[in-house]
Amino acid sequence: MKTIIEPFKIKSVEPIRFTTKEERQQVIEKAGYNTFLLHADDVLIDLLTDSGTSAMSSEQWAGIMRGDESYAGSKSFYKFEEAVKKITGMKHIIPTHQGRAAEKILFFIVGGSGKYFPNNTHFDTTRANIEFTNAEAVDILIEEGKHPEVRADFKGNMDVAQLKRFINEKGNENIPLCMLTVTNNSGGGQPVSMQNIKEVKEVCVKHGIPLFLDACRFAENAYFIKKREKGYENKSVLAIAQEIFSYADGATMSAKKDALVNIGGFLALNDDELAMQCRNLLIVTEGFLTYGGLAGRDLEAVAQGLEEVLDEHYLQYRIRSVEYLGEKLILAGVPIIEPPGGHAIYIDAKRFLPHVPPEEFPGQSIVCELYIEGGIRAVEIGSVMFGKYDKEGKLIPPPMELVRLAIPRRVYTQSHIDYVIEVILEVFQNKDRLRGYKIIYEAPMLRHFTALFEPIRK
Ligand code: F0G
Repeated sequence: MKTIIEPFKIKSVEPIRFTTKEERQQVIEKAGYNTFLLHADDVLIDLLTDSGTSAMSSEQWAGIMRGDESYAGSKSFYKFEEAVKKITGMKHIIPTHQGRAAEKILFFIVGGSGKYFPNNTHFDTTRANIEFTNAEAVDILIEEGKHPEVRADFKGNMDVAQLKRFINEKGNENIPLCMLTVTNNSGGGQPVSMQNIKEVKEVCVKHGIPLFLDACRFAENAYFIKKREKGYENKSVLAIAQEIFSYADGATMSAKKDALVNIGGFLALNDDELAMQCRNLLIVTEGFLTYGGLAGRDLEAVAQGLEEVLDEHYLQYRIRSVEYLGEKLILAGVPIIEPPGGHAIYIDAKRFLPHVPPEEFPGQSIVCELYIEGGIRAVEIGSVMFGKYDKEGKLIPPPMELVRLAIPRRVYTQSHIDYVIEVILEVFQNKDRLRGYKIIYEAPMLRHFTALFEPIRK
């Protein structure tokens, strides 16, 4: 088989700024050792997120010019609505400025104290929006999904037996909806199988609980199903995506991922009453029904992006380019979540730095070193992002300590990725020198965005 190439050529380029190691050492110290607080201009290769960082196509940019900015009934809205309906088949499509705005509207209405929301793994904003209403967000991931070194095709699956027990324990009346995140971002970008979606749906139907999708990366999930699940190898990715959505009663979506845009999102629903409530809240917090916090031009770009993301040459290149990075790291013995996920590679910080305990944030230590060594920006997904405290103020760490290298869509070439590999291997060789960090400031919610750190010098 020949090399899988980028299925596009580059029309417009954006220079990146080179810095020295000494400069980076100063800059990261000034940023409180938090890569979210760096100036992007000081970053060479930015793998902080795949969200809103895609390169748009010439057709999307053309759509930007075509955008109809009418306050109500914009032509661009109807184009957007049609594109979303084609894939989701849902009755009500409500635009929002990004994913968490859709989550906020949904959980503000269905959440509240005494309510429980199961998910394979909640993303941090989903969890925060649920907890903000005093409801509880509960992760019910299959056991395999919690072990980075275990290779399995669908490590994003929900544990169906545990879901049943959970519903029996909490009572259907206290579970307004059940969610599945496709692909499972916080669990390593791992896909959910169609079989699992069907089984979860069956349990939900039996208990009268609606099933919702957190659909940010639905196309990548659909491609994994095509490649890994029996019976889907000859189906189009569009048909697979349509089948995924056919089992759902609703979905939240951050268009900043698989709609290949820099801003946007939506809420898709079948229930008329819930849709009416959501629309009322949309008008108060986002905007009118036909733009919901977006410009007409953004809606055009989403509509076009949803078409392009289902192109199978694109998906083949996308999944392969992430796998390429993963393969090279595995070959060199770097511990990562296996197999590689759809949008990112997740370094297993526990095995990478066994001498740094969770209380000293091993993931954060690797993140800082990748920046200092090579100007690469990554993000910690471990005790900084998801750690809680018990009554005595002792850290309750999450099951995994990870460092995510998220790959922006259509942005970096193979030589950028080769450079990333070289830097990671260099850090890996010197890993015994790496030390932990302590937090010197943290916000009460979503602390990872603004926390300040100090290296622990022993
Ligand atoms: N759900 C998932 C699974 C996500 O990954 C994200 C965002 C959201 C919801 C929220 O969407 O950012 O548009 O409000 N994830 C980004 C990331 C931020 O870096 O993984 P948003």
